[in-house]
Amino acid sequence: MDFTLHHQAVNSEARAGSLQTGHGTIETPIFMPVGTAGSVKGIHVKELKEDIQAQIILGNTYHLYLRPGTAIIEEAGGLHRFNGWDGPILTDSGGYQVFSLGDIRKLTEEGARFQSHIDGSRHLFTPENVIDTQRKIGADIIMAFDECTPGDADFDYAKKSLELTQRWLDRCVNQMAKTKPLYGHNQSLFPIVQGGVYPQLRETAAKHVTTIPSDGYAIGGLSVGEPEADMYAMIEVVNPILPKEKPRYLMGVGTPINILEGIDRGVDMFDCVMPTRNGRNGMLFTQNGIINIKNKKWADDFSPVDPDGTSYVDKQYSKAFLRHLIVANEMLGAQIASQHNLAFYLWLVKEARRQIMADTFKSWKEEMVQKLGQRL
Ligand code: GUN
Repeated sequence: MDFTLHHQAVNSEARAGSLQTGHGTIETPIFMPVGTAGSVKGIHVKELKEDIQAQIILGNTYHLYLRPGTAIIEEAGGLHRFNGWDGPILTDSGGYQVFSLGDIRKLTEEGARFQSHIDGSRHLFTPENVIDTQRKIGADIIMAFDECTPGDADFDYAKKSLELTQRWLDRCVNQMAKTKPLYGHNQSLFPIVQGGVYPQLRETAAKHVTTIPSDGYAIGGLSVGEPEADMYAMIEVVNPILPKEKPRYLMGVGTPINILEGIDRGVDMFDCVMPTRNGRNGMLFTQNGIINIKNKKWADDFSPVDPDGTSYVDKQYSKAFLRHLIVANEMLGAQIASQHNLAFYLWLVKEARRQIMADTFKSWKEEMVQKLGQRL
């Protein structure tokens, strides 16, 4: 998997690059829509590709392993065949999903024991079997099995947690070496930097992952309840240590402002459920700020959903109609809002890239950050 850096912004760490995968090239910085169970909720593949212009999507090992189960995906010929998306796919390892289970999981040296959120059945994830599962799912980029350290962890906990993640990473690397891709395209393992909100631990973590030759590196354990300033500070500690010539992926982040701040600090890849999950609840992201479409003030506003939007839904439907659909819990409402938000996120990173290439990123970013936070 080749990463080419095309341009580095002036007075910013922002970069424009391209990442070649077995399923096509991704232009960075990029936002990756989340398709937890193999589908981006409510969005057809055709719309993802043509209207939203997604370049890579995410799947979750935890969810796909539990349902439909790895055997079905393998029988289908991998997730690309199963869901009909022929572009690049990244799978998260389950480290974050298992962490979210709270009381119904237990971490040991061996791995994570947990109960299914679906039927309560008991399972064990280990670094080895999580790599095997991701081989069978067939994602282009597969994530190391880690513990996502909680945002409020004290130093001792964060240190122990990081050390466990590091030992698990070594086991993931070994398992990768012992196994092969099943479907003819390459799979790259991205290590994950943990370390909580402690600069010293983040530094240790970043140095450790760079000893492992990889096609890219991820920063995890952020946007998990810590103050936003801590998240930015941790990115500033980690990115200068990670190799310049490899893509950097900030996991599970975030708002449009978080994404621009991440890009400014040298992050290349992002994913988040926010555009789809918040969209289903009536939150719309636009260039001029955030709209809560459920608000009564939109009830008789027959102007387009977003006159500046790039998706066809932005002009096809009015705010008043979308509000009606969301308030009435009509499934089309959730679909329109998700499609709008995803198209907006993809527009945002594409425009960021254009501004980086034109050496105007920094001033454009400052202006956008002012606008994006407003409530309309
Ligand atoms: N998604 C968001 N944060 C994380 C993390 O720390 N680890 C993993 N595996 N996935 C994430």
